[in-house]
Order: sequence, then C-alpha cells, then structure tokens
Amino acid sequence: MDLGIRGRKAIVCASSKGLGKGCAAALAEAGVDLVMNGRDAAVLSRAAAELRERFGVDVIEIAGDVADPTVQRKLLSAAPNVDILVNNNGGPPRRDFRELDRAAILQGVTNNLVTPFELIKAVIDGMAARGFGRIVNITSLSVYVPIEGLDLSSAARAGLTSFLSGIARGVAEKNVTINNLLPGKLDTDRLRGPHDPNVPEDPEAAGQRKARLAADVPAKRLGTPEEFGQVCAFLCSIHAGYLTGQNIPVDGGLYVSAF
Ligand SMILES: NC(=O)c1ccc[n+]([C@@H]2O[C@H](COP(=O)([O-])OP(=O)(O)OC[C@H]3O[C@@H](n4cnc5c(N)ncnc54)[C@H](OP(=O)(O)O)[C@@H]3O)[C@@H](O)[C@H]2O)c1
Repeated sequence: MDLGIRGRKAIVCASSKGLGKGCAAALAEAGVDLVMNGRDAAVLSRAAAELRERFGVDVIEIAGDVADPTVQRKLLSAAPNVDILVNNNGGPPRRDFRELDRAAILQGVTNNLVTPFELIKAVIDGMAARGFGRIVNITSLSVYVPIEGLDLSSAARAGLTSFLSGIARGVAEKNVTINNLLPGKLDTDRLRGPHDPNVPEDPEAAGQRKARLAADVPAKRLGTPEEFGQVCAFLCSIHAGYLTGQNIPVDGGLYVSAF
C-alpha cells in the first residue's frame, strides 16, 4: 500500500534500536526523511546508515538524551517543518514503588510525560497551520494493565494519555492526529532485562526466555519491532487521517477486552 507520505519529514525519538528503530524503518520504507535519536552516538550512527542504505532517504542523527532541552532543540531545528513526530524514550527500570524517592518519580514523569508533551507543544501548531500532522506516542500496555515494578512507567504514560486526549480532539479538524501505540511484549533488548550489550545471548537461553515471556500471549510469540513499526507508519499515513485520540495495543491479543 502506498502510504502517501513520501517526502514527508519525521522526528523519531529514541530510535537507534528496538521499537523506535522499527518505526523509523517503516517510515523510511514509505519514503519519509528522518531525524533519528539515541544517546549512544555510535549505535545511532549504525542505525542511521542502515536506513539510508536500505531506503535511500535522508537521515539526520541527533545523539543525546531526548529529555534534555538542548537535545530537544536540536531535534526540532533539524526538521523545522516536521510532519510526523514519534515520541519514544527508555522506560524506567523495574523497581518496587517503596524504593522510589521524589527524584526518581520526577525523573520517570519527565522522561515519559513531560518530554513527549514538550515536543508535541513545539510542533503541533505548525502542523495544524500546514494542514497535516501525525503524532504517535509509544506508551505501554501497562497503561491498561498494571505490571509489577513498572508502576511509575504506567503512571507517567497514563498521565500522558489523558493529557493528550482532549488535545487530540482540538486539532482533528486541521488533519493533525495524535494516537498512542501500546506495546505488549515485543522482542527488543528491553525484554532481555539488564545485560551487557556486548555479550550476545546464548541462543538456547534466548529461546527459552522468549517462550516463557510469550506463554500468556494469545499469539504465542513475541512481536517484532518491524511489525510494530508498520502499525506506526500506517497511523502516520494519509489513510489514517480519521483515526485520532486512540490507544492501540500491539500485543498479539494479550490485552483482553471485548471492546
Ligand atoms: N519491548 C516491549 O515489549 C515494550 C513493552 C512495553 C513498553 N515498552 C516501552 O517502549 C519503549 C521502547 O522500548 P524498546 O523495547 O524499544 O527498548 P530498547 O530496545 O531498549 O530501545 C530503546 C531505544 O531508546 C533509546 N533511548 C533510551 N533512553 C533514551 C533517552 N533518554 N534519550 C534518547 N534515546 C534513548 C535507546 O538508545 P540509547 O540507549 O543509546 O539511548 C534505544 O535506541 C520504552 O519506553 C519501553 O518501556 C516496550
């Protein structure tokens, strides 16, 4: 399907690996020029080179913490009339809520609520004035279903969801949409838990870990960053202009609800 966004420009935050990279790749496949981001400049540079090579699009690399206002300014000035914004960031580490002090709570809220909101605030009026805008926020299935130890993540992302719910309706008539993608269990480094990125996982142990994680998923497998990215690219397409303010689980059926 032609997504109708060839030549558009996208900022994809936290996109050097995992779900962000999956979104960047699917947008690049649709012909979208990218601004990519991640803290590790070498990893970011490899990911950007891969997408340039595979899809022939322009890719600008902005290395740094997306929560840092200086990095945000660089992201925004790399794409002054940006058409598509994909908000993403690392999630907080798993921690018992009793261990969270004020600084940790504020950090979690800054990363997963304040940062995406600040970026949206910076781009939304320009999108509305130009009559096209697509904003996708990678949140989490934990907005719907609590996950032990990730309470801070759930709270910040649920806050973002509510924050944007009214804002999405306010810009719908300008062909600007805001939707949230809720990953369930996707096969990224995040699901490996804390590990040394330079040490490859033993294939047998990896297979067992993934089977364990997928046991309660109706699809009986973990999702891939590529299929997650394709859902994101569709939401950013011209075909999805009438779809806004929604929370879309990408979870192989893990979230159970008839509605
Ligand atoms: N995978 C899942 O099943 C799942 C489920 C629910 C929710 N989520 C959420 O989805 C988001 C993406 O997860 P993922 O699975 O794709 O994780 P991942 O594979 O670990 O990738 C995270 C990406 O974000 C970048 N990043 C992390 N912190 C950053 C920061 N402060 N500034 C800029 N870039 C940053 C990382 O690069 P650097 O480390 O080099 O910065 C990397 O490119 C996370 O918020 C996660 O909590 C994922």
